[in-house]
Amino acid sequence: MKNSIAILGAQWGDEGKGKIVDLLTEKSDAVVRFQGGHNAGHTLVVDNKTTILHLVPSGILHEHVKCIIGNGVVLSIDALSEELEVLRNNEINTSNRLFISDNCPLILPVHIALDQAREIKKGKSKIGTTGRGIGPAYEDKVSRRGIRLGDLRNEKELFSKLNELLEYHNFILKNYYNCEIFNVDKMYEKLLSQYQDYKDYIIDAPSFIESLFKDGKKVIFEGAQGSLLDIDHGTYPFVTSSNTTIGGIFTGTGISPKNIDYTLAIVKAYTTRVGSGPFMTELFDKNGKILSEKGHEFGATTGRERRCGWLDLVALKRSIEINGFSGICLTKLDVLDSLDKIQVCIEYKNDTPVYKEYKGWKRDISKIKNFDDLPENTKIYVKDIEDYLKTPIDIISNGPGREENIIMNNFF
Ligand code: GDP
Ligand code: IMO
Ligand code: MG
Repeated sequence: MKNSIAILGAQWGDEGKGKIVDLLTEKSDAVVRFQGGHNAGHTLVVDNKTTILHLVPSGILHEHVKCIIGNGVVLSIDALSEELEVLRNNEINTSNRLFISDNCPLILPVHIALDQAREIKKGKSKIGTTGRGIGPAYEDKVSRRGIRLGDLRNEKELFSKLNELLEYHNFILKNYYNCEIFNVDKMYEKLLSQYQDYKDYIIDAPSFIESLFKDGKKVIFEGAQGSLLDIDHGTYPFVTSSNTTIGGIFTGTGISPKNIDYTLAIVKAYTTRVGSGPFMTELFDKNGKILSEKGHEFGATTGRERRCGWLDLVALKRSIEINGFSGICLTKLDVLDSLDKIQVCIEYKNDTPVYKEYKGWKRDISKIKNFDDLPENTKIYVKDIEDYLKTPIDIISNGPGREENIIMNNFF
């Protein structure tokens, strides 16, 4: 029995974190986001109905569950409003269920403008960001120029902080990027009115989460992006601006490491990446096309086509070391169903991947519920991954639907 589980992406994001958080939430009491922002796109498919979440934790479809946005998340109130409206239209109630840390740094429209202007200026060497203002908002946090959600309480101080922030960024936007600048009065008025809409959601998150633990509640920590996009440990500079690895949970919520009982790596059975940056096992042939089409590999946030390639165990081993994962959930295994041969990178030699080849299973595995019922070739593929990574595969996800899983270990 576990009281808290951390669920983190082990590759470059889009591993299927949202689906698994939703699945494991059924038996939990709360889900906490701790980093990233609305650059995330987490897809939940329940009874053939698809919900894509960006900021709201993936526990929201379970009515009994509390959803918490921790201080490590950069918060666009505009994006939150849009997301809550979609949820309301689908009759999902968030009041008294969604709670937001007063220390969340705000993403303001000026951050979005800066993010996009930089990418345009970089041209071919662009990072390929989601254009959501994530990087500039984290920079303002670290420079101590940023505005936090709790700052909206103090009208007078808010104005002078906002004025200072805009003076600084407007100068760059106008003189360096040749872009439109932002009006302080307008932004100030909007923030004050948004405060009225959201003031009841604001909490002191560390004590809120601590009280959940004290009451014996079960809590899931939901990662966004993936370990290889971590600002410190990822493929820098082609990374996001937060710590997507395990440490992000502690700085991004204020809880202590002793509270995490189990850390689950979400690993896609192959690899994808959106945006620029190195991708050792990337495919440009018909196999890449099969993965892209069968896996519907298009971004849940930007709609961009995801780059596809074989599973990279070398990169994964590094993720496992950094996060100290207790177990693995292997997702999208069904996407490999039609392949004749499957390759897995087991080593890099002179910066070139060395592959081990597996025979495909050429069968639809999407309805299978027990490991023993999988085709022999599928079992070999799964067991080899487990052996190489020296970490148990506790869940296999074999379809996008909430119920499409093979569960080998019940955590809660
Ligand atoms: P996240 O960002 O890690 O939550 O992942 P995304 O939602 O961005 O991308 C995962 C995509 O794969 C979504 O469209 C999911 O519905 C889908 N998906 C998740 N698990 C599976 C699976 O086991 N099989 C298949 N075929 N699709 C899956
Ligand atoms: P989820 O949570 C995949 C990528 C972007 C870009 C880089 C930096 O759905 O797995 P940013 O806008 O964060 O400054 O962009 O990070 N990226 C993601 N890739 N899944 C995500 O989130 C991502 N969030 C950001 O494509 O390469
Ligand atoms: Mg995603």
